[in-house]
Amino acid sequence: MSDNSIDLHAPLPEDPSSRQHPTLSREQAWQLLTRYNQDPFHLEHARTVEAIMTYLAQALGYAEEAAFWGLVGLLHDLDFEQFPQEHCLKSQILMQEAGLDPQIIRATASHGYGICCDIKPEHQMEKVLYATDELSGLIGACALVRPSRSTLDMEVKSVKKKFKQSSFAAGCSRPVIQRGADMLGWSLDELIARTLEAMQAYERSTSPADAR
Ligand SMILES: [Fe+2]
Ligand SMILES: [Fe+2]
Repeated sequence: MSDNSIDLHAPLPEDPSSRQHPTLSREQAWQLLTRYNQDPFHLEHARTVEAIMTYLAQALGYAEEAAFWGLVGLLHDLDFEQFPQEHCLKSQILMQEAGLDPQIIRATASHGYGICCDIKPEHQMEKVLYATDELSGLIGACALVRPSRSTLDMEVKSVKKKFKQSSFAAGCSRPVIQRGADMLGWSLDELIARTLEAMQAYERSTSPADAR
């Protein structure tokens, strides 16, 4: 499984004959994640981004790769809790030590492009991760200030309003979100709509039946 000869700067192939399939199980990925992460907020962020990636893989025509996209989402911040100063760099070492597929290492690290690492998102999966990671934080913060504390009754326009209000959830980088939308060739509204839809599906799947 560990092939360090691959150049992590080389883009992943997009063609269907090179579909990415997971080389580790979801359980193995969870074990690795929880080896380096205990903070419930970080674990919930990992699960949320996993759900968004899985949902959007299916929505964007990558259903066969949905499990792979999900693993990338789950593991993307592997190093952040313990090594915030080496974010997206230390994760490459930890993942190599764990024998992970270089494609997962590359894809996860690329969400730090221009911020803490120089691996550029090239594959659609990497662009989706880059664009939705920060946005999921903003949408989560929007939910917390609603009476319902939920995404289910949220509309794109209310997220857009908070997006423009830079003091709100100031840690969620608006330039990164906008850059992500640009990378995908999507409008900001489209990116918000797709991400919100994915988060609503996730919330429905995790809510008790009587609260749906
Ligand atoms: Fe990150
Ligand atoms: Fe993240």
